[in-house]
Amino acid sequence: MLEKNKKSNVVICPSVLSADFSKLAEDLETVNSADWIHFDVMDGHYVPNISFGPLIAEAVKPYSDLKLDVHLMVDEPDKWLEPFAEAGADSLVIHQEVTIHAHRSIQQIKELGCSAGMAINPGTPIETLSEYLPYLDLVLIMTVNPGFGGQSYIKTMDDKIQRMRKMIDNSGYDIFLQVDGGISRNNIENVAKCGANAFVAGSGIFSKEDRPAEIALLRELAEKGYKG
Ligand code: DX5
Ligand code: ZN
Repeated sequence: MLEKNKKSNVVICPSVLSADFSKLAEDLETVNSADWIHFDVMDGHYVPNISFGPLIAEAVKPYSDLKLDVHLMVDEPDKWLEPFAEAGADSLVIHQEVTIHAHRSIQQIKELGCSAGMAINPGTPIETLSEYLPYLDLVLIMTVNPGFGGQSYIKTMDDKIQRMRKMIDNSGYDIFLQVDGGISRNNIENVAKCGANAFVAGSGIFSKEDRPAEIALLRELAEKGYKG
């Protein structure tokens, strides 16, 4: 299960996609001061790229002290819930666009002992999430079109995050609002101001020489912006 950081009102989630795959264990150790490892699963159908599966999740798990946050960018997420839970996932985040019986999928995620998340692409309205809020631990607003690391944050997502924050607050449920794509020191404070409190960063962290310092900076800026 995902956890809040007891000393901070925001969580920082380095994305493995931007790590050096030839030395994953070593790279993961450099980001241990963050909160959750974000694990991007891509199947080459739902998104135009292929990344990694449960075997890699299982292999990297012992090399990190952090929670394993699994983002399933796949056409048939239901097939992969159990394998990733067994591989050590703490969360399973499914995309609203491909999940037909989402309520059932969320129940299954909970039965597997994981936190349940639902993600939406930049073009998907936040209203598609409204019926699921009572059951979700996390909502993920994609701030780029999924498939690749290193893309630019889509500026119009500011407004969408603000509306999602209002929707969550009005619901009264305790749900993380996560953002993913193009997050860096240049925009994290503003994105936090819009209402996000969980921040995925791939290139924004792994492109830096001193990752602990970058994570500390991202956290400081996010805490400054987030008013929750
Ligand atoms: C994009 C992935 C992201 C990606 C973010 O499809 O879901 O998690 O790793 O990478 P950056 O932070 O470089 O945009
Ligand atoms: Zn992701």
